[in-house]
Amino acid sequence: MDTVTTDIAIVGAGGAGLRAAIAVAEADPKVSVLLVSKVYPMRSHTCAAEGGAAGVIKSDDSLDYHFNDTVTGADWLADQDAVELFVNEIPRELTLLEHWGCPWSRESGGQVAVRPFGGMKIMRTWYAADKTGFHMLHTLFQTSLKFPSIKRLDEHFGVDLLVDDGRCHGLTAMEVRTGQMKMIKAKAVIIASGGAGRIFAFTTNGAIKTGDGMAMAYRAGVPLKDMEFVQYHPTGLPGSGILLTEGCRGEGGFLLNKDHYRYLQDYGLGPAEDKPRLKAMELGPRDRLSQAFYHESKKGRTVETKWGDVVYLDMRHLGEKLIDERLPLVRDLARSYVNADPVTDLVPVRPVVHYMMGGIHTDINAATSIDGLYAAGECACVTINGANRLGSNSLGELLVFGARAGRFAVEHARTAKTAGDIIEKQAAESEGRIKALFRRSKGKERVATLRNELTSSMEDGCGIYRTEETLRSTCDTITDLRARYQDLALEDHSNVFNTDLYQALELGCMIEVAHTVAQSALERKESRGAHQRLDHEARDDANYLKHSMAYYNPNGDPRIDYADVVITKSQPAARVYGGNAA
Ligand code: FUM
Repeated sequence: MDTVTTDIAIVGAGGAGLRAAIAVAEADPKVSVLLVSKVYPMRSHTCAAEGGAAGVIKSDDSLDYHFNDTVTGADWLADQDAVELFVNEIPRELTLLEHWGCPWSRESGGQVAVRPFGGMKIMRTWYAADKTGFHMLHTLFQTSLKFPSIKRLDEHFGVDLLVDDGRCHGLTAMEVRTGQMKMIKAKAVIIASGGAGRIFAFTTNGAIKTGDGMAMAYRAGVPLKDMEFVQYHPTGLPGSGILLTEGCRGEGGFLLNKDHYRYLQDYGLGPAEDKPRLKAMELGPRDRLSQAFYHESKKGRTVETKWGDVVYLDMRHLGEKLIDERLPLVRDLARSYVNADPVTDLVPVRPVVHYMMGGIHTDINAATSIDGLYAAGECACVTINGANRLGSNSLGELLVFGARAGRFAVEHARTAKTAGDIIEKQAAESEGRIKALFRRSKGKERVATLRNELTSSMEDGCGIYRTEETLRSTCDTITDLRARYQDLALEDHSNVFNTDLYQALELGCMIEVAHTVAQSALERKESRGAHQRLDHEARDDANYLKHSMAYYNPNGDPRIDYADVVITKSQPAARVYGGNAA
């Protein structure tokens, strides 16, 4: 097995990974950094982010407002020290991107423009039309090319961490083109590999979002925190699940039921009278909007289609000029995928899995419980998102905590101890595991079959509303899938771009991550934010104002423990949107 040596290895080269790499290079150009990504960086999922990144910039806004909106949106499950740090640092990060060339949309006077976004009661979302993630990723990638200390292993799948005596010393990775395993020795590792939306059948997430980095840290002993909180975005295109950005509603789009009625007013979401704070309605938080859809559907007020029930997104009143200027991608997607032109037609939409609030447990410096191991971006849980993330906080999160991960990893690398021989043995075991999987030809199970059973069971059991019965059934299915995974047969036994092997590795990660979601949800017997239990309808601060921590158990269900939430200045209260408690 080839060995590659670097000071800092970063798993994932999307927004968080690239931002971390740049932070390392800026902190110390002598520290070598290696980006290890299963795809070419510009194919990372950050590219798919559309609507924008929130950061205080206008004179009617304040850091306190952003803090309060985020903590309220999180249903008080966010750690408030982390939120405070985040809202303070994000305006600087967004300005840095401006200096690096990010083409933020402008007002007529040339100032950076902001748009309204859900749960943000003041306009503070910076955007680049409706291709914000694409432009941010381009900006970060091109900036990273300036630094000779940043090297890349594109199309390398991170497999296992190498850990000796509680310290991380690198990882193993498989080169996708050749199937060759490599041992990557590093003084610190940053995981920035994105979320795991693909554990659900209907998702906005690209095929690459299979939770590999989360699973890698989890198997090495780091808990996955708050995994039961899975975000449904209210406006996915039926059939494909492709996102239509919240920017559609930020720019003034309406959600209508089958009677063309703006049904959100019936769900405690406004309209509000307290201008200049924004009205709620379509700009309520995503959890509430997706839950409202569920109830409309139960009342028979949605429209049945072959892809499931839908409501309508109405943007016709916005006019062609505004749509073409600020929502050109949305127009393109709606025309191409559902044959509806937002300028003249109602666009069918339905809630779709979009984001994991939970992830690898880190502290405010992006450090995990393993010395020298950091995590940032959607794969991590700092936590600023708690039980429900506000749209446009995640692009900011990957910048702020990506940069912090980079800086703290440099500090760690300066004094890191040398690894013992045990990591060579671990690397050999990791290679052995992959080779054994690769050679399997006699098993009865196929990757696609197990994956389909997993994703539909997650959708059925861990959806917008859950019960003990649905969750138990999903947990049982996952236990069964875990066993059947051992009986997998690969059909492709070539070394070159072996997608069968690659997808088998991804499936293994998906099953473990899904297990933490279902088990954490089963054990949280309350309703909060995106976790709604029909059998435990109330929020229960006395028993559950705490983070769930899922620990890996190779032979059974994850062990769920709990950790305190950091509360500094905002005491838990009722969530109020549009003048109404919701
Ligand atoms: O709707 C959107 O543009 C999504 C943004 C986000 O998830 O932050």
